Amino acid sequence: MKCASKAGCVPEIGLGTFGIGGDFWRRDNSRDFEAVKALRRGFELGLRLVDTSELYGEGHAEELIKIASSGIEELLVITKIHPSSLEPGEVYKRLLGSTERLGRRPWMVMLHWVPVGYHICDVVKALESAVAKGLADNFGLSNVTASQVSAALTCTKRMEPVAIENKYSLRYRRDELDVIPLAQREGLLYLGYSPLERGALALDSFLASIGRKYNKSAVQVALNWYVKIPNVVPIVKASSASHVEEIAQSIGWALSEEDWKLIDKQFYIYRFQQY
Ligand SMILES: NC(=O)c1ccc[n+]([C@@H]2O[C@H](COP(=O)([O-])OP(=O)(O)OC[C@H]3O[C@@H](n4cnc5c(N)ncnc54)[C@H](OP(=O)(O)O)[C@@H]3O)[C@@H](O)[C@H]2O)c1
Repeated sequence: MKCASKAGCVPEIGLGTFGIGGDFWRRDNSRDFEAVKALRRGFELGLRLVDTSELYGEGHAEELIKIASSGIEELLVITKIHPSSLEPGEVYKRLLGSTERLGRRPWMVMLHWVPVGYHICDVVKALESAVAKGLADNFGLSNVTASQVSAALTCTKRMEPVAIENKYSLRYRRDELDVIPLAQREGLLYLGYSPLERGALALDSFLASIGRKYNKSAVQVALNWYVKIPNVVPIVKASSASHVEEIAQSIGWALSEEDWKLIDKQFYIYRFQQY
């Protein structure tokens, strides 16, 4: 488990669902069987944290989580809603839609991003109100800067955000400069999305060479590397049961200190380089 004082303890790896059940605002039912099988396998293997959105497959990803998690009580679901309106009634309506599609109360809700022209405190206010009405346990902030997180922590009235969800991978380490240290200081969970750089790290020969020492794949080495960082939880997407099985075996073992540092050094440039 990974613990952060504000969020509590959560599984060390979360499953993502972007591309499952369709694309942004576009439903696709054609691969439902495979998607449900993959998610179900992940839940069976103890991956009990899942990230989704009302946008993914026009809500169909949420429906597939409902089917795959049938009979499973302990499951932490993070969902995100489109920030088209911060009007409390609209945020409530959208979150209610997600709750119905999921068939359970989300553990956490976020707005996908801070809409242009709004202050982070407007986002906090909208989410606080939805959570206060009992539609989710917590709220978090997605696609935010360190200064927005700091501001968010000063403008809360009833409850604080407990997590940040930003892009973070060995090839996109920008948040190590400020957002991750801030999350660690403030006891916030840091959910890193696209930790395989959308699949590219599966092909990384350096990670594969380290993995050979442990009989692990490049994917397993990358995910294990994040697990060692306090407060950080990678959110990784896989749409086949075999990929999910590989992901589940990323934890329960540890890279040596020496190998962890070698990987750190190999990808160090990505703290400063973005594309
Ligand atoms: N908050 C936000 O704005 C935001 C933005 C982006 C993403 N997210 C969340 O973060 C999640 C993860 O990010 P992501 O989907 O962008 O990228 P990712 O997790 O870095 O990469 C997903 C890709 O890796 C592949 N993969 C997974 N396991 C593999 C394995 N064992 N071997 C080889 N390839 C493997 C997947 O292939 P298959 O699909 O074929 O298994 C998929 O193509 C999303 O699904 C979503 O829930 C949030």
